[in-house]
Amino acid sequence: MARKIIIDTDPGQDDAVAILLALASPELVVLGLTAVAGNVPLALTEKNARMICELAGRRDIPVFAGCDAPLARRLVTAEHVHGKTGLDGPVLPEPTMPLQDGHAVDFIIDTLRAEPSGTVTLCALGPLTNIATALQRAPDIAERVQQIVLMGGAYFEVGNITPTAEFNIYVDPEAADIVFKSGMDIVAVPLDVTHKALVTAQRTAAFRALGTPVGIAVAEMTDFFERFDKEKYGGEGAPLHDPCVTAYLIAPDLFTGRRINVEIETMSDLTLGMTVADWWGVTDRPENALFIGDLDADGFFKLLTERLGRL
Ligand code: BDR
Ligand code: CA
Repeated sequence: MARKIIIDTDPGQDDAVAILLALASPELVVLGLTAVAGNVPLALTEKNARMICELAGRRDIPVFAGCDAPLARRLVTAEHVHGKTGLDGPVLPEPTMPLQDGHAVDFIIDTLRAEPSGTVTLCALGPLTNIATALQRAPDIAERVQQIVLMGGAYFEVGNITPTAEFNIYVDPEAADIVFKSGMDIVAVPLDVTHKALVTAQRTAAFRALGTPVGIAVAEMTDFFERFDKEKYGGEGAPLHDPCVTAYLIAPDLFTGRRINVEIETMSDLTLGMTVADWWGVTDRPENALFIGDLDADGFFKLLTERLGRL
């Protein structure tokens, strides 16, 4: 049976590809997109979310705007990676589908309460502000969530926004702390695995060779952020972070990880937003997440390219 998901997102080119992969896949039913401030401010992330739905020909997907700032901090954005719009690269038409009335946090709460318990999965592709706010307002939803699969954190690869923190967790560490302490079934997809999902020139060429508006737009997106990441990391290409989340839901066998304890650093200036991951089991702190460590990168790109070709 297809899995019902809500995608909480801050598009972002890699968020866009993650959304397109979900919309192309019969294993997933997208109940809605909830935008959050992150890579760029909220006014852009909600607009970008609508642009992506329109690119996929899915004007029927409800898109909600959520929190415009982290729970307790000033917003940090990542235009240096994603460009001024967050979706630099392709030239896409301004969206005409409407933003839904109502707040993303209410949509998350109402949907989890309306659907049978244990049947809705959250896919979190940005800072966890919307989801933590929903948990704060409606603690009963924690046990109604089937699973939350989130892109966030790092252990072996340490940080991409500070030496020890990954961007999504760093932007709103208090929200991440609430999520990791919530008791929900958590799958964390950290940089350790997304840094293995590298878009090489050959993989981008395969997107472009689809010859469709989606294939060409995705190639233009990956071309854009590849420039920044290649310069930063060297190596073959740029990591395609967020699509690992939707790919995990479609083909979990492409991924491996460990059930471990993960805590979020919220106090130290030096290591703020670090995911302290007990990978080696050196504490007796209880397991609270499946922390993904590896993926079959060729299998991942094969799946992604094949699915994008369906749109
Ligand atoms: C995460 O940060 C954002 O820039 C990307 O969209 C991804 O969700 C990677 O650290
Ligand atoms: Ca993102």
